[in-house]
Amino acid sequence: MVEKHSKLGTTEEKLNMQDVLSMRSSGYYSQRTAGAKNAIDSVLPLMKEAVNNLPETEILRFADYGAADGGTSAELWADLISSLREGGDARHTELLYTDLPSNDFSTLFKTMQGMEGDPSNAYQINNDNVFVHGCGTGFHRQLMASDSLSLGFSATAMHYVSEKPCEIEDHVHMVGAAPDERAQFAQRAAEDWEKILLARAAEMKSGSQFIVLNFGIDEKGRYLGHTGGHSMFDKFTQHWRSLLNAYKITQEEFRRATFVQHYRTLGEFKAPFDSQDTPVMKAGLRLKSARTQLTKCPYQMAFIEADGAMSASQYATSLIPTMRSWSETVFLSALSSRLPAEAQAIVDEFYQSYEAEVAANPEGHAMDYIHAIMVIEKVT
Ligand SMILES: C[S@@+](CC[C@H](N)C(=O)[O-])C[C@H]1O[C@@H](n2cnc3c(N)ncnc32)[C@H](O)[C@@H]1O
Repeated sequence: MVEKHSKLGTTEEKLNMQDVLSMRSSGYYSQRTAGAKNAIDSVLPLMKEAVNNLPETEILRFADYGAADGGTSAELWADLISSLREGGDARHTELLYTDLPSNDFSTLFKTMQGMEGDPSNAYQINNDNVFVHGCGTGFHRQLMASDSLSLGFSATAMHYVSEKPCEIEDHVHMVGAAPDERAQFAQRAAEDWEKILLARAAEMKSGSQFIVLNFGIDEKGRYLGHTGGHSMFDKFTQHWRSLLNAYKITQEEFRRATFVQHYRTLGEFKAPFDSQDTPVMKAGLRLKSARTQLTKCPYQMAFIEADGAMSASQYATSLIPTMRSWSETVFLSALSSRLPAEAQAIVDEFYQSYEAEVAANPEGHAMDYIHAIMVIEKVT
């Protein structure tokens, strides 16, 4: 087998990194990510408050960083723009969607023009003077002119780190990594978070806010898919390892399935605001609030509410696709030296074995979300 990934940081590795981070395209992501949408919808009051306190400007420029296909936040933006227009604010409004160059911007543009998804959320055609733009540059860099952003928003995106600092040998995610591996992820995430904040500080107008919901680890040590029952990332590791034990994947393919993510604690999120002397504070940003939030797994809620009317296997076939929508590319990329059909067959088997486990006994299987929700303001 040709060893393509022996070194980190090569151009080839960086290009492949985008595939590892990508969501599945053609609307698959937002159609199967009801929980992410619920978390986004929960911050509408914060967004409205931020808009009410906006600095006076001729135009409004909003940004949605790491928006994927735009489906999960479309209702939030539609509601926000409707409330502006209903309140008599007719200012020209630009919405800049940002993601990686590999993102499915085509579905995003179709959604906002009412050619896909719920047409009542097609705020671009349902309102006058709303202009939708896309930006395919990563959010670790400044993405628009200085002092031009009226309101920034990002959901469930900034846990992706800019580069994989190392492969995780015995697990798939930093939550199960060895201490030295975990420290490397923490270091990378701290540097990235500072870069993200400094880039936003440059873009934001004085008085504007950046509202960011991010996957993280809460005060009780809970994180995505790890809130009391089975731990989802341990299950990923277990089923991936079964393929290794059955000689269906190699040891190298096992270790390459390393999520390029770091779940920060609230302490890690707050660190750039810890003293007046940090670069982020000097750049004029202030942390107005930070809290954690649990969003229940909507698929498990539906299963419980069905009260016997939904079978365990129906539950399994609803739950696994939501996990698959954002994780599949990690496992496919780990198999990148194989023919695409062969890699796909292995990954299908991987999710099928997880699904069979849930179908056999659904107790304790769910994907609750844990977010850190922060309101950050530019004061100078
Ligand atoms: C889990 S999705 C979240 C999508 C949407 N915001 C939501 O909450 O449903 C994460 C998104 O972040 C994007 N992403 C990851 N790293 C990025 C980066 N450096 N710059 C911009 N987007 C990035 C991914 O491509 C993906 O579309």
